[in-house]
Amino acid sequence: MKKLNLVIVGGGSTWTPGLLGSLVKFKEEFPLKKVTLYDIDAERQSHIGRFGEVLFREQYPDLEFNYTTDKDEAFNNVDFVFCQMRTGGLPMREKDEKVPLSLGLIGQETCGPGGFSYGMRSIRDMIELVEDVRSRSKDAWILNYTNPAAIVAVALNMKFPDDHRIINICDQPVNLMKSYGKILGKDYHDFEPKYFGLNHFGWFTNLYDKDGKDLLPELREIILKQGFAPEDAEQRDASWLETYGMVKDMLEDFPDYLPNTYLQYYLYPYYKLSKLDPNYTRANEVMDGREKRVFAECDRIAEQGTLDNLEMVHNDAHADMIVELALSINSNLRKTFIIIQENNGAVNNLPDDAMVELAAAVGSNGCEQYHFGNIDTFYKGLIENQYAFEKLTAEAYFENSYQKALQALTLNRTVNSAKKAREVLDALIEMNGSYFPELR
Ligand code: NAD
Ligand code: G6P
Ligand code: MN
Repeated sequence: MKKLNLVIVGGGSTWTPGLLGSLVKFKEEFPLKKVTLYDIDAERQSHIGRFGEVLFREQYPDLEFNYTTDKDEAFNNVDFVFCQMRTGGLPMREKDEKVPLSLGLIGQETCGPGGFSYGMRSIRDMIELVEDVRSRSKDAWILNYTNPAAIVAVALNMKFPDDHRIINICDQPVNLMKSYGKILGKDYHDFEPKYFGLNHFGWFTNLYDKDGKDLLPELREIILKQGFAPEDAEQRDASWLETYGMVKDMLEDFPDYLPNTYLQYYLYPYYKLSKLDPNYTRANEVMDGREKRVFAECDRIAEQGTLDNLEMVHNDAHADMIVELALSINSNLRKTFIIIQENNGAVNNLPDDAMVELAAAVGSNGCEQYHFGNIDTFYKGLIENQYAFEKLTAEAYFENSYQKALQALTLNRTVNSAKKAREVLDALIEMNGSYFPELR
């Protein structure tokens, strides 16, 4: 089998060590010649890079590994690009969360005004990344986790409509399946899911096992009785446990389908607002927790020159998903993944250009969604409203349109009031400075 060249963009991401661990885990099926980390922040990336040197020396000795801030070194002659950048870093995430909260609105990384703000920042860097890759490796597959994946997907589809080797993904459906697997005592890889919606805005309608039995009714009963927790609950911060816990509330109100956890911000905005601390948000939790831990452990392992903490390369569903996706493409396995793709009739009664999150078979010719059919009025209403928000956000970016930005935020279920939308938009423009395009 041909050995591949891979670049990880956002090499300094807190998720990179786990990802490197998954590359080791899949080295037989997904053999790599060269792995390069690329980041714009050399210092931050070097901590992960020095850890990677130890990991690969011990566990993947024939692999060429390096880390760089040089685009030619990173993007020449690559087969796969895994992307997980954060424009503005965690300090800007903190502002995305705190500025809306200071105005009495939900402050969240990818939902509502925070997601809008992050989206406006991410679009420019993601377009630049695609251009940087395409000018050097025109056939590389670009698998992208960068958030807000919903808005990034819409914007990239507007900018590069014919590029079918960009796949935007999210780990939340697979995280949920892993949690369902724990409840049911089954491996999530054996589930065949049926799922519809937008990114961070979708529902499982069925969860078939190997024999074709739908496990969703049983799962619903268990969650309604016992509540719901992430598979890796012991390693999660309190806010994530609360987030998973609300799946039960959503099921009590809307028992048809199993909801994505992010729907709680749209279905219970007032309640969620009352639970969020405007002075200490999820960004603070991450900066005080995961970020510190990951960098301290990378430094320690680099210092001692040998790997002793397997926790660091603990293969979570997040890291495995992107590697398994690349493997399915490379070996044309046509396995099922829940991914973000242009609708094009897969859901009959949603717009063709919506970037929907659906189950798809993924192989060497790309993604082929499973046809979904029609969705019911309640879900269609919610999705169309949210899709209008996403589309107007991307259009506001491309057209430098204050008016479209205002429309987007007014439509968002976490805002609703045009006066509030204007207030938060003005605050976000001010806070983002040159990260934002000029909105006129
Ligand atoms: P992080 O800030 O720790 O890491 C991001 C890295 O990207 C930093 O090292 C930063 O220097 C780098 N970066 C910023 N701009 C860049 C650019 N233009 N080019 C290259 N590198 C750049 O953030 P994190 O918490 O590790 O998250 C990384 C990304 O992954 C975020 O976008 C996050 O939202 C996303 N994520 C997505 C999913 C999903 O389900 N889609 C899941 C987890 C994380
Ligand atoms: C899930 C979502 C991602 C999001 C992440 C945030 O995995 O699917 O889109 O970025 O959670 O996690 P954090 O721990 O950084 O709050
Ligand atoms: Mn996600």
